[in-house]
Amino acid sequence: MGKMMSEADLERMEKEYKEWQAEYNKALKKMPERLGRFSTVSDLEIKPLYTPLDLKDKDYFEDIGLPGMYPYTRGVQSTMYRARLWTMRMFAGLGTAQDTNQRFHYLIDHGETGLSTAFDFPTLMGYDTDSPLARGECGKCGVAIDTIEDMQRLFANINLEEVTTSMTINPPASIIWAMYIANAENEGFDRKKLGGTIQNDCLKEFIAQKTLMLPPEPSLRLVTDTVEFGTREVPRWNTISISGYHIREAGSTAVQELAFTIYDGITYVEEGIKRGLNVDDFAGRLSFFWNSHIDFFEEIAKMRAGRRMWARIMKDRFHAKNPRSMLMRFHTQTAGCSLTAQEPYNNIIRTTTEALAGILGGTQSLHTNSLDEVYMIPSEEAVLIALRTQQILAEEAGVANVIDPLAGSYFVEALTDKMEEEANAYIRKLDELGGMVAAIERDYPQMEISDAAYHFQQQIERGEKVIIGVNKYPSDRPELEFILKIDESVERGQIERTQQFKEKRDKVGLQKAMDELRRRCEGPPCWENNVMPALIDAVRAGATEQECCDLYREVFGTYSDPGSF
Ligand code: 3HC
Repeated sequence: MGKMMSEADLERMEKEYKEWQAEYNKALKKMPERLGRFSTVSDLEIKPLYTPLDLKDKDYFEDIGLPGMYPYTRGVQSTMYRARLWTMRMFAGLGTAQDTNQRFHYLIDHGETGLSTAFDFPTLMGYDTDSPLARGECGKCGVAIDTIEDMQRLFANINLEEVTTSMTINPPASIIWAMYIANAENEGFDRKKLGGTIQNDCLKEFIAQKTLMLPPEPSLRLVTDTVEFGTREVPRWNTISISGYHIREAGSTAVQELAFTIYDGITYVEEGIKRGLNVDDFAGRLSFFWNSHIDFFEEIAKMRAGRRMWARIMKDRFHAKNPRSMLMRFHTQTAGCSLTAQEPYNNIIRTTTEALAGILGGTQSLHTNSLDEVYMIPSEEAVLIALRTQQILAEEAGVANVIDPLAGSYFVEALTDKMEEEANAYIRKLDELGGMVAAIERDYPQMEISDAAYHFQQQIERGEKVIIGVNKYPSDRPELEFILKIDESVERGQIERTQQFKEKRDKVGLQKAMDELRRRCEGPPCWENNVMPALIDAVRAGATEQECCDLYREVFGTYSDPGSF
């Protein structure tokens, strides 16, 4: 924005800033700063004041631009929320498919505008409910899905051509997506009109979330099969939700979340190009997923920096030509790790602050955490408050009525630059290490995150970072009692249904479909060996999620985390 101030103005600014500094130091003698050091939650040091001097080298058009125009710092759409609000997409899943279908309808009836599916741990890890490894976990942290019949119950009475559906699933993503497509077609819907997202981001699992099944290479192969299949067959589907959320929840800084997630995106683009795909054919359906943590300005700056970084990477590193390939469209979830069990009603204020940051950061889709999410699957009461939080911000608070209102703020633009600069240093480092898979095998991102998490915990213990009700103003209030319990009968019922389903299958047809799936998995990665068509046939013939995952485990081998300290 140097151009917004003449040289003479800048000289005057330098002079007056020095005078202000002298005044500031004089005032401190009477009343010192209330903290020894001021920094963001990620410990990025921040100055007391930002002025045009902090932006004197900026070129507005190169670095900030206009919404819907390269480099998209101010948003991916020219009209943003003036035309369409972000999708209110509440992460939901509990008990059986029928229980979750009821929660979906409850949320739709109260105004949510997109679906988001949380699966239980056996489903996330590729085990059916009747597996001994699933014992005691059925329906506890999400919905139990074993078969295509469960999928039918999960989306009963929902128009799958009208709604967009997110499914948070990683190693078994190809299988669950195949069940979704096969069920939708059984219900008479056209796969070319199906909209939604599978998370399908294997790299962040090795880095942070650790729902692991196969080694990195076959995991990347299967992700690329879904990208290739979506590009050809399901054009409205976002085939990967490249996620920073879990990296941040594992204790990373905002800069690490930004850098490692973007580098995961770089890796998926490289894999698609290696598969022979044209970058402009698939990049437009890659999407992202950010954590919105409690440091308001840091999160807004992270999201604005992310959009600009991705646009520049797609244009300069991958020579994308289609503007859509350069858009960082993203979902945001408020930070689960910022919630406290102490005085849980305080979590409403934390979630509101974090949601507001996501909105001012330009998110396309938003989940707001429930106040009781730190205890259990959200109760209906709590999830309604979380949804109403979005609706009040959207329709009462006026914050959706002007596009990117914080642009031009000396502090926000300077912090956006700082985020980009520090994240690019990590990107250069990952290039030097030979890419993300090589870095993971050296524990590099994992160790960076562990160090950051340890540093933050030390700051909490020293009282340098405050968590109200926890390390400051300790709470004497009663905690919530557990109100939403998943009864053991849920598991017994699910086991019965899955076993009855298996008994009535056509064994010959199923075997034929599974043989074709095996042939494709054993073959070299290419369109003729893309697993998706064979998976759709297999789940239609009654293959369960675990039967397909067991075939993957046999052909590709398994992976367990070496554990890094
Ligand atoms: N003007 C014109 N058109 C507009 C517009 C505007 N202002 N705003 C939006 N649109 C269009 C879009 O272009 C799009 O059309 P298209 O598909 O033809 O491009 C349509 O309207 C829908 O808009 P978006 O695509 O922006 O919004 P969606 O909500 O459909 O998609 C997304 C958002 C981020 C791209 C998508 O990938 C998504 O929904 N992701 C959600 C992921 C998610 O929910 N994850 C939850 C994970 S939970 C988890 O992991 C945590 C747990 O593990 C603990």
